[in-house]
Amino acid sequence: MYDGGKIITGIVIFLLFALFPIYSNFGKTYKPPKPDLNTPEIQKMEVKKCVEPKEYMRAEHMKLLVDWRDAALREGKRTYINSRGESYFISLQNTCMRCHSDKKKFCDECHKHAGVSPYCWDCHFAK
Ligand code: HEC
Ligand code: HEC
Ligand code: HEC
Repeated sequence: MYDGGKIITGIVIFLLFALFPIYSNFGKTYKPPKPDLNTPEIQKMEVKKCVEPKEYMRAEHMKLLVDWRDAALREGKRTYINSRGESYFISLQNTCMRCHSDKKKFCDECHKHAGVSPYCWDCHFAK
């Protein structure tokens, strides 16, 4: 004879496991990363701006950094002229990280979300 009780219990247990990823996320909203710009160097700025416009930086900072590295190492060029005609000293540590001095709350905050861990810090100091 079939044991209806056991079959139903089995189905319920199966569904609890199968649907776990769905109900365990129920009610949680997706939290976008919140990179923190609150550093002493940025607080001092009258007009808070990055090397390039924010949207460009958000999307293209990895490319800009590689261009900076190539400029510095291959061409010996240490000055970057941005789209506004302003010059910046080409340096990850002394330029980017001077303003973005809280690496954990800025760079890492986004990278954690994106699942990337740039290997730059194997050699470069964050501060
Ligand atoms: C002079 C200070 C300063 C320097 C130098 C600087 N930043 Fe920024 N950065 C800022 C400020 C201020 C903002 C926010 C700009 C805004 O809100 O328009 C910002 C924004 C950004 C953003 C976008 C953040 C977001 O919320 O989307 C990224 C990414 C970034 N910077 C990376 C870098 C990198 C990489 C470098 C070096 C190549 C660099 N920054 C150099 C001050 C700086
Ligand atoms: C607004 C979010 C955000 C902030 C802030 C941010 N990053 Fe990123 N970064 C990303 C994302 C997203 C990627 C992955 C992009 C991709 O794979 O196309 C990335 C990739 C990179 C890469 C390339 C890594 C690889 O393995 O390809 C480097 C280098 C990098 N970021 C450096 C920095 C540094 C240095 C800072 C802090 C000054 C910083 N980023 C701040 C979002 C951010
Ligand atoms: C194997 C070690 C190593 C790794 C990993 C590394 N770098 Fe470098 N990088 C160097 C050295 C050495 C220099 C030359 C320093 C100098 O001439 O002042 C340099 C110079 C640079 C420069 C120009 C000069 C400066 O002071 O910043 C940039 C920009 C740069 N690297 C970006 C990056 C980025 C972005 C990553 C990660 C995607 C990275 N590097 C990973 C060793 C490394």
